[in-house]
Amino acid sequence: MKAKAVKMADGVYWVGVIHWNSRTFHGYGIPGTTYNAYLVFGEEKTVLIDNVYRGMFEQFDARVKDAFEQEGKDFKIDVFVQNHSEMDHSTFLRQTIEEYNPDAEIYASANCIKFLENQYHNFSDLEINAVATGDELDIGGRTLKFVSAPMLHWPDSMFTLLAEEGILFSNDAFGQHVCHSKRFDKDYSLDYLLREAQKYYANLVTLGSPMLRMKLNELTETGLINEIKMIAPCHGQIWTNPGPIVEKYSEWGSGVCKDKITVIYDTMHHSTEKLAFQIAEGIMSEGVEVEMYFMQEDGPDDVITDILDSKAIALGAPTMMNKPFPRIGNMMYWLDCVNFKGTGSEKNALIFSSKGWGGGAIAKLQRDLEEAGFTVTDTLDVLFVPDEDVLAEAFEKGAELARSIKE
Ligand code: FEO
Repeated sequence: MKAKAVKMADGVYWVGVIHWNSRTFHGYGIPGTTYNAYLVFGEEKTVLIDNVYRGMFEQFDARVKDAFEQEGKDFKIDVFVQNHSEMDHSTFLRQTIEEYNPDAEIYASANCIKFLENQYHNFSDLEINAVATGDELDIGGRTLKFVSAPMLHWPDSMFTLLAEEGILFSNDAFGQHVCHSKRFDKDYSLDYLLREAQKYYANLVTLGSPMLRMKLNELTETGLINEIKMIAPCHGQIWTNPGPIVEKYSEWGSGVCKDKITVIYDTMHHSTEKLAFQIAEGIMSEGVEVEMYFMQEDGPDDVITDILDSKAIALGAPTMMNKPFPRIGNMMYWLDCVNFKGTGSEKNALIFSSKGWGGGAIAKLQRDLEEAGFTVTDTLDVLFVPDEDVLAEAFEKGAELARSIKE
């Protein structure tokens, strides 16, 4: 097949692939995505940074060859840099090495070297150089600086800075699962991209928030942050203006939240739903923003996205057989998995339920929410169908939750 490489700077090309028809990535709903890889031409060495996912080799290979043709050079890669080993960025690493230069130098973090072998079981015969923060590689008139970035988002994650151009190849960090024909941030609205980056951060990076804070401090203290003129992640658009995304990462990673409450509910006979809507009215009456999710229809990945910058949540599920309605369970597991405690934000929670005749949902939801780091400040447990008095109580509890988060 034919596919064009996209020039980002002199001798620097995007050679990734567009996965137009992908709609889920390990349970995370996406509108397609890209797996970004980059080819950098030094005066002495040509470097491939990262790789692509299964089923994508032909498109990738065509783009790599096009970059060589644009540069008027033979198809030979001298150096492979692997910033992270997850399969969406490494599936064809071995095949690419075999095709473009079995004697090439290979660089990765020590964890990445182990993880490649654990996943593919065919790397142990290759000599891969372990690199970490402080290591550099001269490729002829250009320098690659390696920056360890553990837990951003795997223990093996690493950034590579092309020093002279100030291009930070950040792998998953700063990425977005979006799928477009153009490659740069400036081609799409900033608000849209930051929202997609928030979804990405919330679902894939939140757990690494303490490491992110340390990394941003380190980059600031070493002055490296001022050298970054462009951020080239492994998914989505390339940030030619890195300021806004770095600022957002700093906020998300340190628990900065809005006066916003995410209301999440499920319902059997619309009673818990009535409570959800009244609680939302109460919150809104205090001028606080509400995002509402109905778990029969909505995905937990979107819920997680909004909880990231919410100061509180209101969570509702009816009681079924003395337990929370099970459809809420998928979202609860996601909530526990991402672990918002890592951001340092302290989020309040109101739990509500139509308990039928007996109840039981609230006790379990409270245990689970507290384990996930939320402070349960109030509950509302209602017999069967709420009457007007109960709806008024729900309104007031929503208003009280809103007042509790306002500065
Ligand atoms: Fe995009 Fe951790 O892989």
